[in-house]
Amino acid sequence: MSKNTLLQVNSSGRFDGSVTRQVSNALVNLLKQAEPELAINQRELASGLPFIDEQWIAANFTPQDQRNEQHLKALNFSDKLVNELAESNTLVVASPIYNFSIPAVLKAWIDLIARAQLTFKYTENGPQGLLTGKKAFVVAASGGVPIGSEMDFATNYLKQVLGFIGISDVTIIDTSKVFQDGSIDQTTLQSYLDLPVLEQAI
Ligand SMILES: Cc1cc2nc3c(=O)[nH]c(=O)nc-3n(C[C@H](O)[C@H](O)[C@H](O)COP(=O)(O)O)c2cc1C
Repeated sequence: MSKNTLLQVNSSGRFDGSVTRQVSNALVNLLKQAEPELAINQRELASGLPFIDEQWIAANFTPQDQRNEQHLKALNFSDKLVNELAESNTLVVASPIYNFSIPAVLKAWIDLIARAQLTFKYTENGPQGLLTGKKAFVVAASGGVPIGSEMDFATNYLKQVLGFIGISDVTIIDTSKVFQDGSIDQTTLQSYLDLPVLEQAI
């Protein structure tokens, strides 16, 4: 049986002092301790991602069996992002709140991974997510907007879009509870993890 894989997606524009990076790294370390065989992939978004454009949209809306070389080229990077997500059992998304929502680079990532026939499909009963059986953590930070409040258009949005592609098991980690006075409260961080994972670590 192939080993479990975790995908860590970082979207803060800063590295130095980034709360979401520190907490998401600590979370990944805890999960790795609980499961030493866990393979970890990182997708760094800080340096930017291409936005979907005319070529991409035309290619995406062309049925798979009718795509030409140009279409395949336009979708190549998006395919790569979808594959690395599809191959992961656990997803850790580190997202600051920027202007009440998620960073633009994270939205660009979502636009590239929300793909009909690959990550969701349309059925008689409406859209159906295809990436089922995964666990996601969203590591959220803000400078004052309370996480989960009406002003937080980041975590509710991420839950919605992850659910749309089939990832309904989403734990939101509020870094204001975990990261205080410049350090991580490991006990609080651990409290966000499912107990069975921690029991394996002991
Ligand atoms: C461009 C920008 C926009 C921000 N907008 C908000 C905001 O709307 N509400 C808020 O509470 N904090 C806002 N913040 C503060 C960040 O959410 C906060 O500093 C967070 O810790 C950033 O994540 P990081 O530490 O991982 O970089 C903003 C920060 C930046 C850089």
